[in-house]
Amino acid sequence: MRTHYCADVNETLIGQEVTVAGWVSSRRDHGGLIFIDLRDKDEVVQLVCDPADNVEAHKIAEDIRDQFVLVATGKVRARGEGLENPKLKTGKVEIVVDNLVVENKSLPMPFELGDDKVNEEIKLRYRYLELRTQKSYDIFKLRSKATIATRNALDELGFLEVETPIITKSTPEGARDYLVPSRVHGGEFYALPQSPQLFKQLLMVGGFDRYFQIAKCFRDEDLRADRQPEFTQIDIEMSFCDQEDIIEVAQKLMHSIFTSCGFDIPDTFKRIQYSEAMEKYGSDKPDMRYDLAMVDVIDIFARCDNEIFSNIAKDSKKNRIKALKVPNGDNIFSKREMKRFEDYVRKFGASGLGYFQMKEDGLKGPLTKFFTPEDIEAIIDRCELKVGDAVFFGAGNKKLVLDYMGRFRIHLAEIMDIIPKDRFEFLWVMDFPMFEEEDGKVKALHHPFTMPKTDENGKINFDDIEEIESIAYDLVLNGTELGGGSIRIHKEDIQAEVFKLLGISDEEADAKFGFLLNALQFGAPPHGGIAFGLDRLIMLMTGASSIREVIAFPKTQKAQCLLTNAPSEVDSEQLNELSIRVRKQQNI
Ligand code: AMO
Repeated sequence: MRTHYCADVNETLIGQEVTVAGWVSSRRDHGGLIFIDLRDKDEVVQLVCDPADNVEAHKIAEDIRDQFVLVATGKVRARGEGLENPKLKTGKVEIVVDNLVVENKSLPMPFELGDDKVNEEIKLRYRYLELRTQKSYDIFKLRSKATIATRNALDELGFLEVETPIITKSTPEGARDYLVPSRVHGGEFYALPQSPQLFKQLLMVGGFDRYFQIAKCFRDEDLRADRQPEFTQIDIEMSFCDQEDIIEVAQKLMHSIFTSCGFDIPDTFKRIQYSEAMEKYGSDKPDMRYDLAMVDVIDIFARCDNEIFSNIAKDSKKNRIKALKVPNGDNIFSKREMKRFEDYVRKFGASGLGYFQMKEDGLKGPLTKFFTPEDIEAIIDRCELKVGDAVFFGAGNKKLVLDYMGRFRIHLAEIMDIIPKDRFEFLWVMDFPMFEEEDGKVKALHHPFTMPKTDENGKINFDDIEEIESIAYDLVLNGTELGGGSIRIHKEDIQAEVFKLLGISDEEADAKFGFLLNALQFGAPPHGGIAFGLDRLIMLMTGASSIREVIAFPKTQKAQCLLTNAPSEVDSEQLNELSIRVRKQQNI
């Protein structure tokens, strides 16, 4: 229908006839002349309808409204002096319309396209209109570039793209499954994959050596700004490899993706141990675009004259006393603000938040009276305090203190506005613990197929499970977990031992993962892998404020699709076929 996309209409075409097609983004009637901004996928061109040139086209233009679909033919000419628009690629020219066809009309827009302040629900209901904006198109253009770069880079590295099943058996990634009832086997269910984890391991047993997939994953979990119930992973698995091989592939992949999308990032990324990340930043995904690291002061507080602190300090394995220095903080924050920070951390279970201010005449604050002059000096030294700095203290149970001080670190960075928006700070977080305890139950921190680390004798010490580390690593970008992976257990006896520690009985293991345990007995190679959240990656690359912006048809925080109205009821015939009877709706 067209001879040119709008973006290609420029000075080189002056005097030539072109046909363009698109949507009316605005129309201005200047008495005699009618100007139309016509927009296709990614640019606007100005059409001019002049009754002196073509009465018919001008007459059609009189009834045109925003977002009507037009095909326009006419001659390209230079815009008049001072009428150029430097913001547009087409800004030096316009098309004098000779023939105008209205391919379709449009109802008035339910919201102003491109207005960021519009309620998100309305935009999601009319998602196809939001997609018509330049901002959306740019996001999906970049997403497409990134997926193509992924395929090219992994192809070059010898990876095979393989699809794994969508209706399948449950894969444990820590969330609830989406279930699909079977019609043929009434009362039985498939589960949508939380990830292709088990199948990619089976592909390694199948000898494929290097696998990847741009895989849809489904998780029924509480949603946040960076989570969707249906999302996409760049999923990778390799055989006969160690952790370093996987990290190398991951860095090469990230480098290719970012370079093809026009960003410059380093070839290799910094690393930190999980334990150090927790102790310094109170998070397993610290944002390294700013510092604000915590230091340990439990030994100094152990000597102080305040029973609360000295008691906490008695058990340095279970408890922590952490100091967080804010350079120049005493000058930035009023006393009232410092008090307000206490309210902030209380929301996360803190019983209080101490602080000191570094004044010209020494360290001040309500707590100083409990310390000897030597220990005051020790605090100043340990925290490297300069005049004008403030330092905050959290004391109590280790997990609690690290959590609220970690959140406080982010809160401080946000209110002080010290987070650079135009930087990519990658960080590998290494050596995750193998297990964690939640509500008295032992859980695998990554997943139960992760290889535990051996001790110096090459043995796994299953007696002290708190101390067992795993060969698992996460890639963090600007404080968001971008990907995670591990070396897998490829021997059936270790896998059985791990299941036992997780309280998974032989029967349960057999029923849930019998197929994997079997496969491990048929010459499973050493293997490992990683998966990246593609949506999160695009969100960070485009600076989008939510993951929903980078998914063509996303769900809301309540896991609904407002466009199609999913989920929705189905008729009783369909339910009967599936042997399902629905009880009265329960509100969660
Ligand atoms: P994991 O569960 O860490 O690992 O997931 C890998 C990455 O997927 C992204 N991600 C999500 N993105 C959007 N919405 C969600 N609900 C969501 N959940 C996860 C994150 C995360 O880092 N099978 C393992 C990988 C492996 O061991 O190879 C796995 O799925 O960016």
